[in-house]
Amino acid sequence: KLEKIWLGLGMFSLVFFLIIIGIGAFHSGHQPAASGREYIDPELVDKDARFKEPGLKKVEGKDYDYELYIVAQAFLYSPQEVEIPKGAKVKISGTTKDVVHGFGVAGTNINMMLEPGHISTYTTTFDQPGEYLTVCNEYCGTGHTDMSTMIKVV
Ligand code: CUA
Repeated sequence: KLEKIWLGLGMFSLVFFLIIIGIGAFHSGHQPAASGREYIDPELVDKDARFKEPGLKKVEGKDYDYELYIVAQAFLYSPQEVEIPKGAKVKISGTTKDVVHGFGVAGTNINMMLEPGHISTYTTTFDQPGEYLTVCNEYCGTGHTDMSTMIKVV
């Protein structure tokens, strides 16, 4: 009699935990854009109003001065060079059309990961004039070491 109760209890907890796991998997499976990042179809990056002509855009009424749109693909960035006025607060938005790429601006703490399907953002102020070599720091294939762009703060 007692054994049946324990067996029943064991079965009950097993089923209970399977349900919990099932619910967890179901929910996370429906939230590909983790931690509030915006989703973008890698195939449609060129058609997206923001990314079809990547580069620096002046904005009004935001708590930053410019938006900088970056598109990465093996093995180059668009734009290939960008000029930013000294002291400008810039929201960088980046994505990739193929595999995971990096976006590391030498001499700063800007080090983004650009993932297919996601828009990565980082807001920063460019205070120091100079030329900042920006490189890919995620291994992306044979051209990885040549993948770079130049940020000029003037
Ligand atoms: Cu792109 Cu490494």
